[in-house]
Amino acid sequence: MHVELHNINKTFGRVRANQDISLDFEPGRIYAILGENGAGKSTLMKIMSGYQSADSGEIVVDGQPVAFKSPTDAIAHGIGMLYQDPLDFPPFTVLENFIVGRPGGFFPDAASARESLLTLARRFNFPLDPDRYLDMLTIGERQQLEILRLLSLNVRALILDEPTTGISAGQKTALFDVLKSLARDEGLTIILVSHKLEDVMELCDEAYVLRRGRYVGRADIPCAIGDLVALMFGKVVERQERPPVGRGDPVLALDGVCLSSRRLTVHDVSLKVRAGEVIGLAGLDGSGQAEFIRSCAGLLSPERGTIKLCDLDLTHASYHRVAQAGVAFLPAGRLEEGLIRGMTLVQHFALTMPGKQPWVNWLRAYQTTAERIRAFNVKGRPNNPIQTLSGGNQQRFALSLLPQRLKVLLLEHPTRGLDVESALYIWEQLLQRRADGTAIVFISAELDEIVAYSDRILVFFGGRVTLVEDPADMNTTRLGELIGGKLAS
Ligand SMILES: Nc1ncnc2c1ncn2[C@@H]1O[C@H](COP(=O)(O)OP(=O)(O)OP(=O)(O)O)[C@@H](O)[C@H]1O
Ligand SMILES: [Mg+2]
Repeated sequence: MHVELHNINKTFGRVRANQDISLDFEPGRIYAILGENGAGKSTLMKIMSGYQSADSGEIVVDGQPVAFKSPTDAIAHGIGMLYQDPLDFPPFTVLENFIVGRPGGFFPDAASARESLLTLARRFNFPLDPDRYLDMLTIGERQQLEILRLLSLNVRALILDEPTTGISAGQKTALFDVLKSLARDEGLTIILVSHKLEDVMELCDEAYVLRRGRYVGRADIPCAIGDLVALMFGKVVERQERPPVGRGDPVLALDGVCLSSRRLTVHDVSLKVRAGEVIGLAGLDGSGQAEFIRSCAGLLSPERGTIKLCDLDLTHASYHRVAQAGVAFLPAGRLEEGLIRGMTLVQHFALTMPGKQPWVNWLRAYQTTAERIRAFNVKGRPNNPIQTLSGGNQQRFALSLLPQRLKVLLLEHPTRGLDVESALYIWEQLLQRRADGTAIVFISAELDEIVAYSDRILVFFGGRVTLVEDPADMNTTRLGELIGGKLAS
């Protein structure tokens, strides 16, 4: 399907999220939309998919100007989008979700809906069980389901906003194969928003770059990655060397810890995390890292074993007690577990303010929020509701809320969805805390991030762990083998 955007404009208050953007998307091709955090990518894609309306400008589909009143309306015109923050309905099963949003009576009965789901799933090699509940699915599986749902509604243009964050390497390969075949064999138009330039190189034919709400240029792919980075930032970003820091005393000690969640059991983990040390948790999505980090945060009680912070036994302590003892946890689901939709930045900050008075000093809260926004380069204002910030800016703001003095900092995907420059900035902040003696434990799906920043690596595979004591000679290929279940020799 041929989709054209003509002079799209969108402002939010004083922010000009999209300025006069005109782009052309031809059938059978795969496009990348690139740009730093807050560049306006998601806004433009939401306009294209009927989730938001433009202030001015025109969308033309196969030569016909169209106006979308809703995402359903856009789907009816053939444009479907996979959102950056998943918008599904967790109490439903896979099958129920597949049927949702369908104009009444499309499937005569549940049996034919099931058949149609299974046929599509087989065709695209997505192993989905129709009767599983959505909250049991990994991010990758939810995404597969949403793609099948959109395809069953006959979309001819598919927009994916950062689809490879949080999915496993296998799921990514399956996804890219499907997208290539949809474009090459069936002539669909595919648009991918991504910060991962290697993904873009692997998948896309062409890239459009946005900077501060404007379209700034395009590139045919393959091209040099440096050219894309230069277009995105106007300059080339260098990766920084990590300064060495001596290891301190153990602060967090796990001994023979066994954990059970609905998804899996984590067996017998023992680990001493020292002050000023960074431990990277590597593994495919759903291999036990999430359970491990939640048990350190007081969110999941071990079935066996002990967890100690210095000399304090925190094995069955509540999240609040663990937090009081000097442990902070930043979860991955920004708007599910970390930040609260509808609350402004100042209100978030007020929640974290120490103080025994029952009232909030709003003037001080406002001033301090404004300082943090400046210090962390957040693109947003104190009175903005949190969900109006771009994904990357939400992440920066969440980091800016962390208490200054911490014994242990637990992070899940700290740079997920951040552009290169922002990710470096976040790590600068984290390494500063490491130098001050905070122990950092982080989960990442980016193997190069694990290799670059970990002093030791804990590898998870199917609930079992292997400790890599000295990652000096570790590289992403070797680590990739380990998380795929190949045993350390
Ligand atoms: N609903 C909204 N209300 C107010 N401002 C908004 C809203 N949605 C987006 N913005 C602002 O518009 C700008 C562009 O945001 P957008 O989400 O499009 O960026 P992005 O390129 O997708 O960034 P990221 O890579 O971080 O996801 C940002 O400054 C953001 O704060
Ligand atoms: Mg975005």
